[in-house]
Amino acid sequence: MKIEEVEQCSFQNWYNNFKNVSVKSIILPLPDDFIKYILADGIILPKSTNVSHVVSTNDSDLSDEEETWEEDTDEAEPEAPYFPEFDQSIENAIESLGGKVFPKLNWSSPKDASWMGFNYSCCCTSISDIYLLLKSSNFIIHDITQPYNLCDDFIQDQSLSEIEQKNIPLFLVLRKWIDIDTSGEFRCFVKENKLIGVCQREHSAFFEHISLHKAEILEDLVTFFTEKVQFKFPLPYYIYDVYRKKKGKVILIDFNPFGKVTDSLLFTWEELNSDLTSVDENDEYPEFRCVEDNYGVQPRTLSSYAVPTDIIDISTGEDSFKLVDLMKLKIETQNESSDDENNAESNGTQNE
Ligand SMILES: Nc1ncnc2c1ncn2[C@@H]1O[C@H](COP(=O)(O)OP(=O)(O)O)[C@@H](O)[C@H]1O
Ligand SMILES: [Mg+2]
Repeated sequence: MKIEEVEQCSFQNWYNNFKNVSVKSIILPLPDDFIKYILADGIILPKSTNVSHVVSTNDSDLSDEEETWEEDTDEAEPEAPYFPEFDQSIENAIESLGGKVFPKLNWSSPKDASWMGFNYSCCCTSISDIYLLLKSSNFIIHDITQPYNLCDDFIQDQSLSEIEQKNIPLFLVLRKWIDIDTSGEFRCFVKENKLIGVCQREHSAFFEHISLHKAEILEDLVTFFTEKVQFKFPLPYYIYDVYRKKKGKVILIDFNPFGKVTDSLLFTWEELNSDLTSVDENDEYPEFRCVEDNYGVQPRTLSSYAVPTDIIDISTGEDSFKLVDLMKLKIETQNESSDDENNAESNGTQNE
């Protein structure tokens, strides 16, 4: 994989040429201070906005005790970030995209942090929703710190970060939220400008209707490729994702480099790189792979980025001892912090 391939897959480089077949999106340049905020430790959300879920913002819901606790912590709260212009452009974008958006940077979405988001998803309705997801995601950090990490032609200058070295403009992309049925998502592999393979995107599940309707799915995907994608994307090797909303209706979701940064799903990289999948002129149709029955189900790629089991146990009452431990810990930390308050002025440590 070459630097050029990563660059062509960066959202701002492909979106304009494909916006008619993709999801309406707004691209906002990331201010330098915002990048620093994302890379800093801890999660502090802007003061001016509310997370639309997770935290109840209705003061009347608070008991007397909780209100007192809120007041006590106010003093020690570190500076909340404030990016007035950037916040305003996010707000305008959310509004013009219908109130619900899917955020990502040049390449990646914060889907590894979606367990923190509304409905366990990346659906955002406010600035804070977006900040929370971006701040919680390792995939976002990857875009900011090492997008060229696996490129054969990238030679890292040890004294500079990858962004400094390449001077990459980073963007926040806000896309109109669409309710996606994952069984309609497919990943398409293109080699030498030919569609050589197609695979269900969510390979950790068996969807009976995919195997039942293989032929017509493939027909839609091949038509979409020849009419809307082939020779329009500026590289001969690439991988793209689509959503087949219904019969005859395919939407482009994303372009990804043809290389190991991209999950090969039900193919292996050995197969994709081998001559077996190089294209035979007479082969009209690409190979289609889907999970054929429940036995073929693969582990979820994102399963290591889920809600910690301790939190699930506590919230479902599954393990009452964990709740007791958590309460003890809370009391201990409260006692410690009131001791600290007596001892010294606040030194501005971050609240996570
Ligand atoms: N506009 C959108 N609205 C709702 N969900 C989306 C939207 N765009 C993408 N998704 C979901 O998020 C997944 C990842 O999107 P994608 O843009 O490919 O990010 P990444 O490159 O991080 O995988 C998609 O497979 C799809 O399920
Ligand atoms: Mg992608």
